[in-house]
Amino acid sequence: MKNLIEPFKIKMVESIRQTTAKQRLAILKTAEYNLFMVRAEDVLIDYLTDSGTGAMSDRQWGAMMIGDEAYAGSRSFFRFEKAVRNITGFKHIIPTHQGRAAERILFSIIAKSGLIIPSNTHFDTTRANIEYNKAEAIDLVIPEGKIPDLVHPFKGSMDLGKLDNLLKKHHKNIPLGMMTVTNNSGGGQPLSMENIRATSKLLHKYKVPFFLDACRFAENCWFIKTREKGYQKKGLLDIAREMFSYADGCTMSAKKDGMVNMGGFLALNDDSLAMQARNLLILTEGFPSYGGLAGRDLEAIAVGLEEVLHEDYLRYRIRTAEYMGEQLLAAGVSIIRPTGGHAVYIDAKAFYPHIPPSQYPGQTLVCELYKQGGIRGVEIGSVMFGKKNPKTGADIPAAMELVRLAFPRRVYTQSHFDFAIEVIINTFADREKAKGMKITWEPPFLRHFTAHFAPISR
Ligand code: F0G
Repeated sequence: MKNLIEPFKIKMVESIRQTTAKQRLAILKTAEYNLFMVRAEDVLIDYLTDSGTGAMSDRQWGAMMIGDEAYAGSRSFFRFEKAVRNITGFKHIIPTHQGRAAERILFSIIAKSGLIIPSNTHFDTTRANIEYNKAEAIDLVIPEGKIPDLVHPFKGSMDLGKLDNLLKKHHKNIPLGMMTVTNNSGGGQPLSMENIRATSKLLHKYKVPFFLDACRFAENCWFIKTREKGYQKKGLLDIAREMFSYADGCTMSAKKDGMVNMGGFLALNDDSLAMQARNLLILTEGFPSYGGLAGRDLEAIAVGLEEVLHEDYLRYRIRTAEYMGEQLLAAGVSIIRPTGGHAVYIDAKAFYPHIPPSQYPGQTLVCELYKQGGIRGVEIGSVMFGKKNPKTGADIPAAMELVRLAFPRRVYTQSHFDFAIEVIINTFADREKAKGMKITWEPPFLRHFTAHFAPISR
């Protein structure tokens, strides 16, 4: 069949609210042109993030009803542990309330001043947790991974030559090497099994443990199955198992490929590290058989981890981003190519060539998409990643000015996507009218969440 359909039917609905263009302009003004400060009910289609925003299945909701809320040794914990071990094979499975809690625990133990932790690209919270513990986070993605419109099947891959050089010089100061699957900060791009295997081999040659940031492991497995030689006939569970077999542990935000609204885990083989992690867990997250989650949450993760590896789900999931990408490219909108797993990333610099990075083309586009059709995306450019010159305080722009439209799992249908595509294309037709933005107030850290903006009058 030519038509690919959503591999589910809808049992419960949540209304979304249309607003008028006039209302949206007023809402934007009240929110100081920062979409993080717009109420979700004023958003028609919310592509702010794919994290914790998915719809659970009837099987997940059913499992929640039989959650065992015992403080210690809950039945739901053992079900969760079995589900995680079935995929990852790791010995110690430690639940946490979300991904960054697993990162905090891991890096409070292994990261300190003078140490270096390489990755293909660290996600912001991973980097922040490493830097908070005074270690250095280094990104070693292949050069192709930094060129938005260059097509490469595994753009998230680790640059093995650079990793080898780093290991040769500094392996004694590298407590761990990481890989983010898929590479969120680089466009949701996958890594090949070959690259994962080779990275593992290289790190192990220098006796450096290898961890995966596994948030979107299932989406990565789909790309391996469809793009890498020798994997077409393999089952997704087997591909996932092979991927985890090369690692010594992982951090996981179950809010992505765990298919739940809240949850995560740290999983690893090393007994001594696991003991230290559980000790820290008790201090801040909770007892090791619940780690900040309710028994019912553990049940939902156990079911979600099984459902996320269904072939019909992943085919539809990855096709969604690909479909939007195709339509946008055909209309002349530049995006990161090829489309990744969980999102489409629009190149705002190419969208608005007349708006310089100092006037935040990404933030402009985020506001225009909301004004045009009530769509919410997120700026990933100089607002989020721009640095300041320490002497003059002037902005140093980020390498790319992107707008990410991230897709909640199993939430929006084909017609929502067609509507969003129409909004983007209409915004593109109006591009010459758009003006840049300025920041009128900003906090000292993570300014993108709370900064105030205003349009620049030309
Ligand atoms: N690692 C990656 C690759 C992520 O994308 C995220 C979250 C985390 C770790 C942290 O997990 O949110 O459960 O603490 N990414 C979200 C996003 C927030 O919108 O991309 P968390």
